[in-house]
Amino acid sequence: MGQLNTIVPEKEPERQYYFIELLKDEIKKKAEKKGGSLTYHIQTFGCQMNARDSEKLAGILEAAGFVHTDNEEADFVIYNTCSVRENANNRLYGHLGRMKVVKKNNPDMLIAICGCMMQEPDEIEKIKTKYKFIDIVFGTHNIFKFAELVHTKLNSEGMIIDIWKDTNQIVEDLPDVRKYTFKSGVNIMYGCNNFCSYCIVPYVRGRERSREPKDIIREVERFVKEGVKEVMLLGQNVNSYGKTLENPISFAELLKEVSKVEGLERIRFMTPHPKDLSDELIETMAVTPKVCHHIHLPLQSGSSRILKLMNRHYTKESYLELVKKIRKRMPDAALTTDIIVGFPGETEEDFNDTMDVVREAEFDSAYTFIYSKREGTPAASMTEQIPEEVTKERFDRLLKQVGESSKKRCGLDVGKTLKVLVEEVNQNHEGLLTGRLENNTLVHFKGNSSLVGTICDVKLNESKGFYYIGELV
Ligand code: 5AD
Ligand code: SF4
Repeated sequence: MGQLNTIVPEKEPERQYYFIELLKDEIKKKAEKKGGSLTYHIQTFGCQMNARDSEKLAGILEAAGFVHTDNEEADFVIYNTCSVRENANNRLYGHLGRMKVVKKNNPDMLIAICGCMMQEPDEIEKIKTKYKFIDIVFGTHNIFKFAELVHTKLNSEGMIIDIWKDTNQIVEDLPDVRKYTFKSGVNIMYGCNNFCSYCIVPYVRGRERSREPKDIIREVERFVKEGVKEVMLLGQNVNSYGKTLENPISFAELLKEVSKVEGLERIRFMTPHPKDLSDELIETMAVTPKVCHHIHLPLQSGSSRILKLMNRHYTKESYLELVKKIRKRMPDAALTTDIIVGFPGETEEDFNDTMDVVREAEFDSAYTFIYSKREGTPAASMTEQIPEEVTKERFDRLLKQVGESSKKRCGLDVGKTLKVLVEEVNQNHEGLLTGRLENNTLVHFKGNSSLVGTICDVKLNESKGFYYIGELV
């Protein structure tokens, strides 16, 4: 299929670099015809995993000669989808409805859909029958093949669909384009083996597999050379990092290794699971200066009965014990969480257990979700689904309680001078910058845009509930 006089390499990533070379020629010719560069736009739904995947897709496209645009009416539009809750699925179809018209007016444009939703067979059927104008469909396991898929599309008719059920392959060393110059996500593992009964992730992201520590370190070193000060190590359950590697290593050991990278200032991670957060990890966080004192520890429910139905492997009591242990060893640590309201069978008593934990744990902040039924998960066939009005009323009560805890926690550092990584010029208030404390809390303060990407000392003058107003010192 190639136009180069070489055999298509079988090994990755060489194979994809081969296709990038072919694409370069193809895209150049199209750009000449158009009289300007071909543009791409990636719409990313969902979590940081997807955000990082989109950076890899962007890397491949830019290597092939596309230039980025914020405009959704680009020459190539990619939707990187999320399926964790139903409204994420619905949002995609809103976009596709609009793009149908856009593509009719510009048949030369390309549209690709990838990500978690594409691992759901029902969604693929829907795309095949109702959205025939889509050019390329691929899943979560083969994003590294993007260059090859685009090349195939440019040289054939009809929709290209390539979905893998699972994989144990990890392809390193493909190009990427990072959204921020000063911070970056770093995948340390892919997939999830936990099968929480409400969650679709294990079905769409496959079985757990860890990257080799040396590949992770090499990537972090490259990022630091490019100006990165903070990395976020990403995995669905970082506590099980490294267990299946040929030379097993714990997540805490990985943290120590990453912290040795010179020039790196901050290390964050997402997400540990409360069932197996080790003492070794707490100790490592406490004694390793670069590791930020912030733990995102998804609670999901405070009821031991519901936690059992959720297949979470911990109880109300053991969760609160863990919180105590963390607070004792790192009193300055911020604790954030995820909570689901309205899981099938949740009674008022169960919900009150969740409220108890929120009161006792005093989370710095919490992402709260209304339970969303995901077909194919065990919870979807549980009979006692909770009426919407009941869930909504509980959800409002929970939000209020979470707000009260945040306010209390966020006030604790007023008057202190702390280090802030400046992330952006504040969009809403001219002259203000926005950055984050080590514990992830937002701070707004007066300053010049040249400070973006640097770490500054900022005095925290006032708490506004979940963020601070400060001044440079
Ligand atoms: N309904 C609602 N929230 C969910 N989450 C995962 N699956 C569901 C679902 N079916 C939430 C969990 C998880 C976060 C990423 O999304 O709280 O921690
Ligand atoms: Fe989903 Fe549970 Fe895995 Fe998190 S740990 S991705 S909630 S199955």
